[in-house]
Amino acid sequence: MENRRITIIGGGNLGSAIAEGLIRTALVKNENITITRRKVYLLNALKEKGVNVLVDNVAAVQDADIVLLVVKPYQVVDILNEIKPVLNSRMIVISMVAGTSLAELQTVIGDRIPLFRAMPNTAIALCESMTCLSFDSKWKEQKDVVMNLFDLLGSTAVINEELMAAATVLGSCGIAFALRFMRAAMQGGIEIGFSAEMAQFITAQTMKGASELILKSNHHPEREIDKVTTPRGITISGLNEMEHQGFSSSLIHGLITSFEKIGAGKK
Ligand SMILES: NC(=O)c1ccc[n+]([C@@H]2O[C@H](COP(=O)([O-])OP(=O)(O)OC[C@H]3O[C@@H](n4cnc5c(N)ncnc54)[C@H](OP(=O)(O)O)[C@@H]3O)[C@@H](O)[C@H]2O)c1
Repeated sequence: MENRRITIIGGGNLGSAIAEGLIRTALVKNENITITRRKVYLLNALKEKGVNVLVDNVAAVQDADIVLLVVKPYQVVDILNEIKPVLNSRMIVISMVAGTSLAELQTVIGDRIPLFRAMPNTAIALCESMTCLSFDSKWKEQKDVVMNLFDLLGSTAVINEELMAAATVLGSCGIAFALRFMRAAMQGGIEIGFSAEMAQFITAQTMKGASELILKSNHHPEREIDKVTTPRGITISGLNEMEHQGFSSSLIHGLITSFEKIGAGKK
C-alpha cells in the first residue's frame, strides 16, 4: 500500500477521519495522500502533517491510484462529471456516498472504471472502522487492493449491495447510537455518585470490554449476559426494568426509522 496514491474527494467529517486513519497506519506515505474540499483552510491540521490539500478535484485525481468519494449524495454526480476526464481504468474509485447505487455511479463514469462502494464509520480515524464493501463481480481483480486498504483501517465485510442501506444504519449511524447509550449510562452514573469524568471513563472502558468479549469469543451477547446475572440479583433487576421501559424496542424502532429515512428499497 506504501506507494499507492490515495485521493479523498470531500474532506469533511468522514473524509478527514479517513486521512487521519491512513496517517495512523504509517503504511501510506503522507505525501501520497491528497484530500480536497472548497474550504481548504479547515484542513490545515492535515496539511501540517504533509498531506496534500487541494481545492482542485481534477488535479487531485489525475495521478491517483485510488479515489475515495466522500461528499454528500446531492454532490456526487457533478463531482464525478468533473473528474471523469482524468479517470482511467488503472484507477479504483470507491464511493462512500450513502444511498447512491453502483449502477447510478457507473453510468456517470462509464463501465471501464473499476468502482466499489464502501460504508465505513468515523472510527476509521483510529483504524477501528467497521467497513462494509460491495462491488460488481467484474471488478473482482481489484477486490484485494480495496480489502487490504480497509483492513488497515479496521474490519471489513463484503456484502450484497442491496444491504448497503442497512449497513449504513447499523455500522455508520451505529457509532451515534452506541455513543447515545454511553451518554445515557454516564447520566445514570453521575446520579449514583460519580463525577462526569469518572462516569465517562468507567462507561467507555466497560463498553470497550463488552465489545471485545463478543469480538474475541463470537459468543451471542446473551451468553455473556448470563455470566453477569445472578438469580434474584442486582443486574437482572436493572436489565428487566430497562426492558419494561422499552430499551430494546426503542433501539430497534430507531434503527428502522433511520433505515426508512434512507429510503427502504433504495440501494
Ligand atoms: N459521517 C459519517 O459517519 C459517514 C459514514 C459513512 C458514510 N458517510 C457518507 O460520506 C459522505 C460525506 O459525509 P460527511 O459526514 O463527511 O459529510 P461532510 O462533513 O458534509 O463532508 C462532505 C465534504 O464534502 C466537501 N465538498 C463539497 N463539495 C465539494 C467539491 N465540489 N469538491 C470537494 N469537496 C467538496 C465539503 O467541504 P466544502 O464545503 O469545504 O467543500 C464537506 O467537507 C456522505 O455521502 C455520507 O453519506 C458518512
